[in-house]
Amino acid sequence: MPVPAASRRAVWWLVPLAAAAVAVAVVVAVAVTRLPDEGADRADGDNGPTATTPAPPPSACPAPTPADSLRALATPCGIGVGAALNDVLFFDEKYRETAAREFNRITPESVLKWGTVEPRPGEFNFGPGDAYVAFAEENGQRVHGHTLVWHTLPQWVIDSGRSVDELREVLRRHVQRTVAHWRGRIASWDVVNEPLGNDASLRDSIWLRTLGPDYIADAFRWAREADPDAVLFINDFDIEGINAKSDRLYELVRTLRGQGVPIDGVGFQTHVSKMTLPDSFESNLRRFADLGVRVAITELDVRVPLPVTQQRLEAQAAIYARVLRACLRLPACDSVTTWGFTDAHSWVNREFPGQGAALPFDDAYQRKPAYWALHDTLAATDSPRRR
Ligand code: GLA
Repeated sequence: MPVPAASRRAVWWLVPLAAAAVAVAVVVAVAVTRLPDEGADRADGDNGPTATTPAPPPSACPAPTPADSLRALATPCGIGVGAALNDVLFFDEKYRETAAREFNRITPESVLKWGTVEPRPGEFNFGPGDAYVAFAEENGQRVHGHTLVWHTLPQWVIDSGRSVDELREVLRRHVQRTVAHWRGRIASWDVVNEPLGNDASLRDSIWLRTLGPDYIADAFRWAREADPDAVLFINDFDIEGINAKSDRLYELVRTLRGQGVPIDGVGFQTHVSKMTLPDSFESNLRRFADLGVRVAITELDVRVPLPVTQQRLEAQAAIYARVLRACLRLPACDSVTTWGFTDAHSWVNREFPGQGAALPFDDAYQRKPAYWALHDTLAATDSPRRR
């Protein structure tokens, strides 16, 4: 049937509009398919123009449904929920499936540590880390790198008898080669792990003894050079409350940032012992955030005295909820990451006789009260980032 002239004009008008609409739809569809969690991460500031400016929280999160996983609840709100993963990932389907389903971030538990990455001088072994990064990429997860500089080291670094210049070069090469290898793929790094001793002074290590305190600033500068977009953290334990050690870290971060050292974030390991979280936990996070850095809970677990009872699991769940709630209340709080996720694979079982059950999933990958505490805290309509 011939088209009347007036309608033909209307049709010609519509062609460019329709083409534009199709193009926009295609671009959106491709972005959504390829980067399932990236949009939220960008909203969270992680991929923003500079690593140092936390973006404001997103304004709207879709209403949750009871069946949502942690990541399904967290991602649209720009919140990181992570877990440290170990090599069980590569031989246990249930572990892999749970890790992919529940978390929008992962931290390789040990394969990014010095002993694996550079087991012999100048011999770099990136294969194990690559496998975790590939897993994360397949599942639209961000990777947090743990860790570049630490006192736990292969013997060849410790026994070296190297001069100041030689050891400095060893450190520079390790930091820069490692960060450069995963440039653009590992989004954030614990550049320096556990720089403080239990007495709150700088920890005695080969780094401090040979290079002096400047090794910290150097490591951050080298990491920034190797990947200007990576978010750079300093990470420690027993700094969750306001105490002598966290005071010292606070002063260190304040001073170094004042000198232009690119420290973007402070990681609070948060291995909770004795089933207590300090009262000052939230105010402590806030004072660090007020320095202009991000804060992140990087290694959360809450060990329970054995035997496990329902009452103890409920008390544990309340601590998990408190930690997450404190993070949600602070726009500068980047993420909450648990150290492992199932009681079947946790360092607590090995290291702390008489304690265990520290994680949100039990030995059989069943959700514990701690899981539901995280879930319900994320889902709560009055969750601060949801407003
Ligand atoms: C510290 C380290 C981690 C890990 C745990 C225990 O928190 O930062 O790398 O070794 O201890 O597993």
